[in-house]
Amino acid sequence: MKLEKKRKFFKNTLYSKTDIYYRKAKEEGFRARSAYKLLQINDEFNLFQNVVRAVDLCAAPGSWSQVLANQLYGEEVPEGERSKQAQVRVVSVDLQEMAPIDGVGIVQGDITRNETLQQVLAVFQGQQADLVVSDGAPDVTGLHEIDQYLQAQLLHAALIFTCCMLREGGSFCAKFFKSSDLSYLYVMMKQVFKNVYVVKPQSSRASSAEAFVVGLGFLGEKAKFGALSDSIKTMKAPSGGAGSSEGKKEEEKEEEEEEDRLTF
Ligand SMILES: C[S@@+](CC[C@H](N)C(=O)[O-])C[C@H]1O[C@@H](n2cnc3c(N)ncnc32)[C@H](O)[C@@H]1O
Repeated sequence: MKLEKKRKFFKNTLYSKTDIYYRKAKEEGFRARSAYKLLQINDEFNLFQNVVRAVDLCAAPGSWSQVLANQLYGEEVPEGERSKQAQVRVVSVDLQEMAPIDGVGIVQGDITRNETLQQVLAVFQGQQADLVVSDGAPDVTGLHEIDQYLQAQLLHAALIFTCCMLREGGSFCAKFFKSSDLSYLYVMMKQVFKNVYVVKPQSSRASSAEAFVVGLGFLGEKAKFGALSDSIKTMKAPSGGAGSSEGKKEEEKEEEEEEDRLTF
């Protein structure tokens, strides 16, 4: 193991042992401490209210999908019984393979590609989603400006994906890292959602540059897609796609993402 990797590994291990959300996640059976970020955002914005179908973009290892499945199936369909339901209510998408979650449809794919959108729509049998969430984080290069750019591109892709499959009035929540490029995304969000908020849940570390953007009341056909129009058309087209992350280096994951994951 390289020295820098060793340093991060020991720092993360020590940090994790003392972190309240890490311990809580372990106790409550969540795959990552990130689960509490979504739960706390929901406490503030009631994201799960009246939601029947939800999409979790960039979902691995799957703690947000666990939260969504628990909320959407509720107590009347206990774990173990959910896959027997005729309708899948949660679809999780990630580049990486994900261990199964009862009642959750898993699509392994790139959210920037239209094949992935088609696969998700197929699981929902063409029906639109009520909620799309994205906790995406690209592979880091270590070059700050490039990493910021890649993160902004991923959020942009999540927004396009959302515009292609969210029902009018639906909600969106996505992670971003504060950078100058994001003022553009904020403007985009304002064109397609009635209300847009930025939130930093308590469980998101103060030292982290991450925050979450929440869009409520998707405008659907009434939205002014503007600069997003071409990307949406490309995404919806039967072949092609809005780009690919193929070839991105599979080096090391972002430090705080590693810290978030639980090792059982
Ligand atoms: C911070 S993790 C998500 C954690 C997850 N929300 C949870 O609670 O378990 C970020 C994920 O984004 C995924 N990702 C990055 N780029 C992606 C892309 N283009 N398409 C799909 N997933 C992507 C990574 O594979 C990684 O699993």
